[in-house]
Amino acid sequence: MRIGIVGAGRIGGNCARQFARGGHEVKLSFARHPGRLESLAAAIGERASVGTPSEATEFAEVVVLSVPWDLVDDALAQAGSLDGKIVIDTTNQYGSESLPAQGETAARHNAARMPGARYTKSFNTLTSAFQAGVADRPESERVVQWVCGDDPEAKEVVMGVIADAGYAPIDLGGTAGCEVMEMPRREGAVYGEEYRLPEAEQVVEAVRAGEPIPPTPSY
Ligand SMILES: NC(=O)c1ccc[n+]([C@@H]2O[C@H](COP(=O)([O-])OP(=O)(O)OC[C@H]3O[C@@H](n4cnc5c(N)ncnc54)[C@H](OP(=O)(O)O)[C@@H]3O)[C@@H](O)[C@H]2O)c1
Repeated sequence: MRIGIVGAGRIGGNCARQFARGGHEVKLSFARHPGRLESLAAAIGERASVGTPSEATEFAEVVVLSVPWDLVDDALAQAGSLDGKIVIDTTNQYGSESLPAQGETAARHNAARMPGARYTKSFNTLTSAFQAGVADRPESERVVQWVCGDDPEAKEVVMGVIADAGYAPIDLGGTAGCEVMEMPRREGAVYGEEYRLPEAEQVVEAVRAGEPIPPTPSY
């Protein structure tokens, strides 16, 4: 697939490398230092190119939004129309602007900031250093990337590219009920924790049932 990266820093850069390794084409964008995008694209190789955020969006079937929280509006303005585009939002609400309301998930909040987009959220629960090193594990040890969103077909596509990138994708549900995958790290949440598929499936069951999730696994 063609994947546009808006914000190719630590997380967006990992996504670009890992998606390209999984066979996808990536276009990198949104930087104060465009030379870094060129270097990253050169390091990734022939599946990577560089453009403006609107070029990345136009090019893409899937757009990764991976910028600091307070830059989300700016990045979206530069990205232009996301109508019909599948979006993977990696952001966490470490910021001071446009914060979610009490009881509103950050995913729900951000989905509303990109009308017309086929919104999903993923890649937000694990540190960039961890994610950089774990996408090539054997099947039984694969690390879970949680996915939430309200468009089942968009989630299917995103789960496909996540699997191609070397993770175990799992659908946590809609944007309204995805608190457990959002910051901060705390007891009773999956944010900040490594999961593998069997334990993640138990979490999904608990979330669907409106029950507390089982204790955090250790591997
Ligand atoms: N880091 C993590 O461990 C981690 C883990 C999970 C989720 N997340 C979330 O994912 C999102 C991206 O995080 P990240 O750590 O990948 O961020 P990052 O490394 O700081 O990357 C942000 C990118 O945006 C670009 N950018 C353009 N204009 C900018 C500006 N005015 N100020 C700052 N950056 C600007 C930067 O390029 P230039 O420097 O060239 O401008 C950089 O490549 C955040 O919402 C974060 O909460 C992060």
